[in-house]
Amino acid sequence: MATKSKILVLGGTGYIGKFIVKASVQAGHPTYALVRESTASHPAKSKLIETFKTSGVTILYGDITDHDSLVKAIKHVDVVISAVGGHQTDDQVKLIAAIKQAGNIKKFFPSEFGVDVDRHNAVGPAKDLFDKKLKIRKATEAAGIPYTYICSNAFAGYFLPNLLQPDLKAPPRDKVVLFGDGNVKGVYVKEEDVATYTIKAVDDPKTLNKSLFMKPPANVLSPNEVVSLWENKIKSTLEKTYIPEDQLLKNIQESPFPANFMLAICHSVMIKGDCTAHEIDPSSGVEASELYPEVKYTTVDQYLNAFV
Ligand SMILES: NC(=O)c1ccc[n+]([C@@H]2O[C@H](COP(=O)([O-])OP(=O)(O)OC[C@H]3O[C@@H](n4cnc5c(N)ncnc54)[C@H](OP(=O)(O)O)[C@@H]3O)[C@@H](O)[C@H]2O)c1
Repeated sequence: MATKSKILVLGGTGYIGKFIVKASVQAGHPTYALVRESTASHPAKSKLIETFKTSGVTILYGDITDHDSLVKAIKHVDVVISAVGGHQTDDQVKLIAAIKQAGNIKKFFPSEFGVDVDRHNAVGPAKDLFDKKLKIRKATEAAGIPYTYICSNAFAGYFLPNLLQPDLKAPPRDKVVLFGDGNVKGVYVKEEDVATYTIKAVDDPKTLNKSLFMKPPANVLSPNEVVSLWENKIKSTLEKTYIPEDQLLKNIQESPFPANFMLAICHSVMIKGDCTAHEIDPSSGVEASELYPEVKYTTVDQYLNAFV
């Protein structure tokens, strides 16, 4: 059996990064996490770092802005997965420079974890982030670094516990506000599954220099379909209000950050259909649930059971 690649995760202490680190360890990859020294003394994050260590993760101290620390860390591994946050997107040019200098990386996963940033109709702050991610793709390719882009679509944890309403903390039982006509299909993927599919792609030549799209069939659903699944569970029909695109665009313009960002993402996913509007071009993309049918992903229907 081929040995598993050694993986370095940047952003391992972040929202999606912690799932990536865990999935990497569970899949048997020697796993390294680049962590800022200041984070090691952060109360909640230090506990997470301890759990990493207990599970066998090697912690390396460094910073995405510190070239030498990056090169040193990269030299330990074969594959780099970046899960840094949106604010660090631009800084990944420094990571690309370090990967180039180290010269030993067989695959780089820049921090994507969303819609295909090459083909979208997002506006406002969401568009700005997608454009930055696209620049990082171009810089990766220009540097000749082998890559996989993770187009995981929408994280379930962001969209399902609130039934697609960014301002709610729990799914409503009486009425719901939906964007557009409620018929545009999005894709909602549980974070653990995003991580499992990402790690599966590490040593898979079929994902080399490709985008890995996550479109598990049972999770390709319109807002009306998501609400209907919920209504069946609570055995009640919700009163529905639909916000037309014009109104949503106005709300985006009038809201402060980060509310405007979340609304712009909702616009991209639920009105423009950026998760589903394009067919996958086999010359540049593969679909995760087709490639890895052995992964028993969590369906939206199953996910919602936790909130009944
Ligand atoms: N599809 C979706 O629904 C969805 C939702 C959210 C995010 N995303 C995407 O997922 C990706 C990750 O976002 P996230 O929300 O998981 O990130 P996050 O929670 O903000 O975490 C950011 C990570 O980057 C690390 N970091 C920050 N500054 C750093 C530096 N100077 N050097 C090294 N590491 C640094 C942080 O470390 P510390 O712990 O030290 O701060 C943390 O581990 C992004 O591309 C984002 O756009 C997608």
